[in-house]
Amino acid sequence: MMISNAMNTQMNEQIGHEFGASLQYVNIAAYFDDAGLPVLRDHFFKQADEEREHAMKFVRYLLDAGASVEIPAVPAPRHGFKSAAEAVSLALQWEHTVTKQISGLMDLASKEKDYLSHDFLEWFVREQLEEVSSMDTLLKMIERSGESGLMLVENALSSGRGLSMSGPGE
Ligand SMILES: [Fe+2]
Ligand SMILES: [Fe+2]
Repeated sequence: MMISNAMNTQMNEQIGHEFGASLQYVNIAAYFDDAGLPVLRDHFFKQADEEREHAMKFVRYLLDAGASVEIPAVPAPRHGFKSAAEAVSLALQWEHTVTKQISGLMDLASKEKDYLSHDFLEWFVREQLEEVSSMDTLLKMIERSGESGLMLVENALSSGRGLSMSGPGE
């Protein structure tokens, strides 16, 4: 095995967090479908797919490193939001939490002089900049438009301009 037991354990926990984010974003997409906002719905379905892909990146890394994959129990995601702002605030909180978790993995890689994991994790560090930035922009747009003006947010999202400076755009 090319990584420590501690790194293996913490990465398995991270797989749970990424799948947890994926499930949360499916519930947020369902909220937007219910609210008659299909562009926001599809935006969150896409985010959910990306989170699943993040989880799978960790799975493939653990397998490549000869480590064991042990996916933990994933808590039930929240549902039944009162507003778009509440749903997207929750998503932004998630992204901040995941950023801390990735930093925690980086701390461990540095402490253990685990250059392989350090290199692998750098992609996630950059990805979190894009994820936090774009979710923060989306929340600000929703707050600016107000609940009655969410069609404007949908129009902006479908214009293809993208939500963050660093990201690939939508
Ligand atoms: Fe993620
Ligand atoms: Fe994310």
